[in-house]
Amino acid sequence: MKYLIITLALAFGLMTSCTNAQNETDMNSNETLENLKSRRSIRSYTDQMPPKDLLEKVLEAGTYAPTGKGNQSPIIVAVTDKAMRDSLSRLNAAVLGAETDPFYGAPVVFVVLADRKFPTYIYDGSLVMGNLLNAAHAVGLGGCWIHRAKEVFDSPEGKALLKEWGIEGDYEGIGNCIIGYPAQAAPTPKARKADYIRFVE
Ligand SMILES: Cc1cc2nc3c(=O)[nH]c(=O)nc-3n(C[C@H](O)[C@H](O)[C@H](O)COP(=O)(O)O)c2cc1C
Repeated sequence: MKYLIITLALAFGLMTSCTNAQNETDMNSNETLENLKSRRSIRSYTDQMPPKDLLEKVLEAGTYAPTGKGNQSPIIVAVTDKAMRDSLSRLNAAVLGAETDPFYGAPVVFVVLADRKFPTYIYDGSLVMGNLLNAAHAVGLGGCWIHRAKEVFDSPEGKALLKEWGIEGDYEGIGNCIIGYPAQAAPTPKARKADYIRFVE
C-alpha cells in the first residue's frame, strides 16, 4: 500500500510538472498574442464579399469587448449593401474634402456608434473597434479603422441614416471598421518606440 501511494504521488508530480512545462511553451507561442502583433491596417481589398457567418464571428467578438460598468454603450451597424457602403464612403470623403474612396475598396463597413449617455462611451466604442480589427485578422480578413464617423453621424445626412436604421438616442460615431479580403501583403509595422513601456519596479 505504502509503495502504491508513493508511486501515485510521483506520477502526479510528474504530470503536474509536464503540464506546467506545456503551459510555459503555450505562453511562449501563444496564438492570440501572435495575432495581436501581426494585425496591420489593410488599405487595398478584393471585391469578394466575405461570407456572412465569418462576418458574424467578427461581430460577435466585437460585442465581447469590455465596457465601463458593463453597460455595453456601443452598437455596431454592419453594412454589406453596396449602395449604402458607397453613401457612407461619400459622406466620409466629404468631411475630408476629397473625392477618393476612404474605404479603400473594402466591401464591408462595420460602423461603431456609442451612446453618449454613458461616461465611458468613447473608450467602450474604441475597444469594440479594437476587437473587430483583431478578430477580422484572426479569421483571415483584413481591416482598418477609418475615422470621421463622429463628423458623419453628427451631420444632417448622418442623422437621417441613423433614423433610417431605426437608431434612436444620442449616438456618436466612434469609428468605421472596414472589412474585406486583403489585396495586399500586410505592411511591415514601424519599429516600436524605445520608451513605449516603462516598468516601475
Ligand atoms: C483612431 C484611429 C483613426 C484612424 N483613422 C484612419 C483613417 O481615417 N484612415 C486610414 O487609412 N487609417 C486610419 N487609422 C489606421 C492607422 O493609420 C494605423 O492603425 C496606424 O498607421 C498603424 O498601423 P497598423 O494598424 O498597421 O499597425 C486610424 C487608426 C486609429 C486608431
